[in-house]
This record gives sequence, C-alpha cells and structure tokens, in this order.
Amino acid sequence: MNPINPIYYGKNGIKEINNFIKKNKPSKIVFLVDENTHEFCYPQIISDIETDTEIEILEIEPGEENKNLYVCINLWEALTELKIDRKGLLINIGGGVLTDMGGFLASCYKRGIDFINIPTTLLAMVDASIGGKTGVDLGSHKNQIGAFSLPQMVAVDTGFLSTLPQEQILSGFAEIIKHGLIADKEYWKEIISLKEIQTEDLEKLIKTSIEIKKQVVSQDFTEGGLRKILNFGHTIGHAIESFFLENKNPVLHGEGVAMGMITESYISVKKGLLSHREYEEVKEYISSLYPKLDLKKEDFEDIFTFMQNDKKNTNNEIKFVLLENIGKAAYDISVDKDLIKEALYMYIDS
Ligand code: GLY
Repeated sequence: MNPINPIYYGKNGIKEINNFIKKNKPSKIVFLVDENTHEFCYPQIISDIETDTEIEILEIEPGEENKNLYVCINLWEALTELKIDRKGLLINIGGGVLTDMGGFLASCYKRGIDFINIPTTLLAMVDASIGGKTGVDLGSHKNQIGAFSLPQMVAVDTGFLSTLPQEQILSGFAEIIKHGLIADKEYWKEIISLKEIQTEDLEKLIKTSIEIKKQVVSQDFTEGGLRKILNFGHTIGHAIESFFLENKNPVLHGEGVAMGMITESYISVKKGLLSHREYEEVKEYISSLYPKLDLKKEDFEDIFTFMQNDKKNTNNEIKFVLLENIGKAAYDISVDKDLIKEALYMYIDS
C-alpha cells in the first residue's frame, strides 16, 4: 500500500495549508486560478491564509480547450519571469482542468515544485484533484501528455459547490455514480435512493467517493492494474468527449462518462458478465439524470478512431473496464469493434 497525500475537509483544509506554509517556508506562493475561481473562490481563501510570504496570482481562461501545452508554456514563462525557484509553492484553485494542468505545470517546472490542490467543482473534488494524475490534452486527445505526481495535500471545501451551476454538479456526479458501480453496491443503492442532489447529501457522498478512490489508488498508484477500474465509462466516454471537442461542440466530462457507463454496461451484458436486470437498473437511472447526446450512426468511425488511442490499450487491442455486477468491476477486457458499434447503435436507437 502506498498511502496517497492527505486530504482535508472544510476549514481544516486552510488550517493545514497554513501549517504547511509555516513548516516548509516556500520562497514564494503562486495561486493558479481561472477567471471564475479568481472572482468567487480566491478572495475567501486568501483571507484565511496566514503568511508574510510573497504571493503571486496566475490566471487562465476556464474551459477544457485551454488545457494544453501552449497555455502551459505561457505559464512556465510566467513562473520564470516571477523568479519562482524550487522552493516555490503552487496552489491550484479550480476544477479538473485547472488541477490537472496545475499539477503538471508544477511537476515539470524546474523538475518539480510543491503544489496543493483546492478543488472547487464536484468533479475535481471526487476525482480529478485526488490521486496524482496530472496532464494536458494534445489536440482533441484527452490527457495525452502528463505525469503521475501527487500534490502535498488536497483541501476539499464543499462550500464552493454553492457557486456551481447544476450542470457542473451533474457532471461531477457521474464520477460518484461510477464509484458505486465499480466498488460498492450499498453505495450505489444510497445514490439511487436520493430524490434530488442536495449539498447536504453531497458532503457524505464526496467523502465516500474519495475513500473509494483512495483505496484503489493506494494499491496501484501508476495504474499497472487495479486502478484501471476507475476508468469505467471512460473508454467510450473520453472518445465521445474528444469527438465533440473536435467538432467544436464540447460536452461536459460527466455527460460523456454517463453515456460511456450506459454503453459499457451494455457491453458487460454482452460479454456474459453483468445481468440484464442490473444493466436495466443502471441504464434507467443514468438516463433519468443526463441528457441524451446527439450522436449519429455515421459518427461511429470517428469515435472509434479516438478509442484506438486510449491509454489503456495494448497491442492494438481496445481494453475495457466492465462490470461483473453492480459494485464489482473487471479490467483489461478486449472488446471487438463490432460489439462497440452495437453498443453505440443501441444508445442512438434507444
Ligand atoms: N480518473 C481516474 C483516475 O484517477 O485513475
């Protein structure tokens, strides 16, 4: 077991950041924000930070289309102009785009400076900011360039969720659903029993989801095996996201993953794993929450091309994470093109 970095909740997060600064005495602190977190989250955070250390702010534009090497180069140049040395500390405040890219930025700058994540979206709280995956997209290929690198800590404050639009909550909620499906049937039942997604319920779900993710990552940090189960719904989901991104009509990550979880559950049935009854339960619940994506059968070849580039593939085979039943996933399962096509057509026709 490799325990991952500490995760602190609520006001404890800022308290621990202050302790970290006091103990480690960074030469400068740089906050990486986007336009939204600069306006809505940074003021609250900075008012609680206790330090005389010089502080700088770097701001990027929000959105997946800005998670790329060109933006990184600008930011590395900015860090250089600000004379940030190896004792500098980067604090990332934002959603998955920002924590993924900020972590990557810090990991490569002068071969690595300390960084801390303060996730402000549900998606970043339960997934992106936890577990040390950092990186950027390459063209339309999601997270094609990156590194495993753990932050010094993650500070989760669900208070930030109140500034989020409902569609962003729903996007992160797809990862919560995924955690139930791959690891814990009781958790799945708890999720589907909720009449609506309310902040009080989310606090508990966030902790359970983070616990599930921590358990998995601590057994397999660099994704040699077990960690792959966290990619359930993502083989098709990422390809769908890339497809829409390339066509200048991006969908939210959770929308792609929701569609991916339905189609990959269908494939699970066809592979003789998941029961038809459980598949119907998964499909019905996810379809009740997420909009149906506007796909056409003729889009399949383009989507399949993206799938061929999936990081989990080996020897030119597309490897899937599938469900054996609700609460248990299997990984490294080869699925042929015809079955993937059948799953996509099923989604389009249903
Ligand atoms: N988002 C999947 C993982 O962190 O492994």
